[in-house]
Amino acid sequence: MKALILSGGKGTRLRPITHTSAKQLVPIANKPILFYAIEAIVAAGVRDIGIITGETADEVEAAVGDGARFGAEITYINQSAPLGLAHAVLTARSFLGEDPFVMYLGDNLIRQGIVPIVQRFKDSTPDALILLARVPEPQHFGVAELEDGKVTRLVEKPAEPTSNLALVGVYLFNHNVFAAIDAIEYSARGELEITDAIQNMIDSGRRVEPHLIVEPHQAMVATWKDTGRLEDMLEANRIVLDDLPPRMEGTIGAGVRLDGKVILEKGCTLQNCTVRGPAIIGESTHIDDAYIGPYTSIYHGCTIRNAELEHSIVLENSVIEDVDGKIESSLIGKECRIGRSPLRPRAFKLMIGDHSRVELR
Ligand code: G1P
Repeated sequence: MKALILSGGKGTRLRPITHTSAKQLVPIANKPILFYAIEAIVAAGVRDIGIITGETADEVEAAVGDGARFGAEITYINQSAPLGLAHAVLTARSFLGEDPFVMYLGDNLIRQGIVPIVQRFKDSTPDALILLARVPEPQHFGVAELEDGKVTRLVEKPAEPTSNLALVGVYLFNHNVFAAIDAIEYSARGELEITDAIQNMIDSGRRVEPHLIVEPHQAMVATWKDTGRLEDMLEANRIVLDDLPPRMEGTIGAGVRLDGKVILEKGCTLQNCTVRGPAIIGESTHIDDAYIGPYTSIYHGCTIRNAELEHSIVLENSVIEDVDGKIESSLIGKECRIGRSPLRPRAFKLMIGDHSRVELR
């Protein structure tokens, strides 16, 4: 069996965070979301992985490398234009050959992994196996209708969904998927939809099985999509942080109090601060005279001094200094500086990129 990870899309909905970088490389609990996909696939025993890339190909390749450190062998496949998930499968046709494969959308995060679904595919050998979860807003997903446990109909992002069962970004196929893709047309949004290809498989009598994640969506799956909603990203961060074991690879100086589950990555230093977990402090980040509250991820190379931060994500090399009042439920991008100016007038002085959002007290 092979795997195909889709890491092409532009991430327009996650701007400004993805203005300069791939959405699949945005870190959740200090790890690019794409790495969770690779790890889940390797954990399911699949090592031959193709990654579909698009405009951000260089960046994705630089971050992932040849796959050796994941125990995988990675082949990069460039998709000339973002023409849909089924188009991506066609692009990977020669890589996939006649092998069955698991397709994993690189911007989805499946908390429970894919070991059971891969096992089920191997045991019951259907033509396709789709992963479904109940979601609160199915109109943003491909939606499945089931009858007596069988998939009867799939609709891509219906305006008025007739079911709350969403396709959550993991699909298993045998080679019959190619005939189905060859038979479908481009959709109204100009894409070759995998949802339509699976519907075609159902219509032509192929065996399509659903694998339902029975637990409530919020508790069991962190299906994080680039809805552009900060809340979704904070939620994924929260769920992943809850699952991580504590780790102590940093240096703790005077006056440090660590409460609950805290992860200190290599080379970070802490002094005069309280960190209340679950929280993760990234490599070579320095925290001084600060409070870091629950569900906070601070990435590599940051400095937090004389500030309080909670339920937030800070990306690499950002500096937060001398801030009155707590920063909460925030996403702070790469190389940002938040601080105080000694110069009059005493005013907010902002340099904010496109699509940014600032909420003041
Ligand atoms: C894609 C699929 C959709 C699926 C979703 C899961 O949507 O087309 O069927 O439910 O991924 O994340 P897109 O990310 O293209 O909006």
